[in-house]
Amino acid sequence: MRIPIVGGNWKMNKTIPEAVNAVEDLKTRLEDVEGVEIAIFPPFTALKMIQGLLNGTNIGLGAQNMYYEERGAYTGEISPLMLQNVGCRYVVLGHSERRGYFGETNELINEKLKTALSFELTPIVCVGEKLKERKKGKATEVVNIQIRKCLQGIGAKEAERVVIAYEPVWAIGTGETATPSQAEEMHRGIRRILRELYGEELANSIRIQYGGSVKPKNIEDLMREEDIDGALVGGASLNAESFASIVKGSRRL
Ligand code: PGA
Repeated sequence: MRIPIVGGNWKMNKTIPEAVNAVEDLKTRLEDVEGVEIAIFPPFTALKMIQGLLNGTNIGLGAQNMYYEERGAYTGEISPLMLQNVGCRYVVLGHSERRGYFGETNELINEKLKTALSFELTPIVCVGEKLKERKKGKATEVVNIQIRKCLQGIGAKEAERVVIAYEPVWAIGTGETATPSQAEEMHRGIRRILRELYGEELANSIRIQYGGSVKPKNIEDLMREEDIDGALVGGASLNAESFASIVKGSRRL
């Protein structure tokens, strides 16, 4: 049985005082919640402060990105060692905004994935097609290529720790969610590739989150689908009340 995982991706939002308020609020709302793995992804600047607040809670800490070298002359980058050192357990890799605005490729994401795994971070690898690609009937093909390239060279032992996030680009921040059946179709396709790469048992244990305008009102319908194992939440994670309600709605009924 896969334990659902819900992530709150704050993107480039919240100063330290704002982040502290949000976390205090979240801690109270989520303290009794069981059966869902919870992680938040604040901006780098707030990680240290928040790590102190999350100690001993059921909320894990993650970063929104990292570089694949441990240290060195890479101005402006953050390494997996630094994330580990600040108490991160998770890292988002290849978010569509990283791919779209900052030119991240599947090959780069693959490098990042290898290092994240070697530093014992739980990577959330994002994939998803653009609207243009979906309209041309290419959604499945695009996502299949992303999955295969991002997981290139990742053995079964490591793949077990990987979380995939299927986030159709046309649904991110637009208020337009994929219908549960559109999402399930892609999730099922992703699991088929995982089965091909890693065999039945392992493929059945890897979590695949859905992301793209997830809200309290649509999470339960999404979670009714067999292959949807939680959500990566952007906009709705900025508010503690709506994020907490999405987390609660992600429990398997
Ligand atoms: P959204 O973002 O929930 O605001 O659509 C999702 C994401 O980017 O992970």
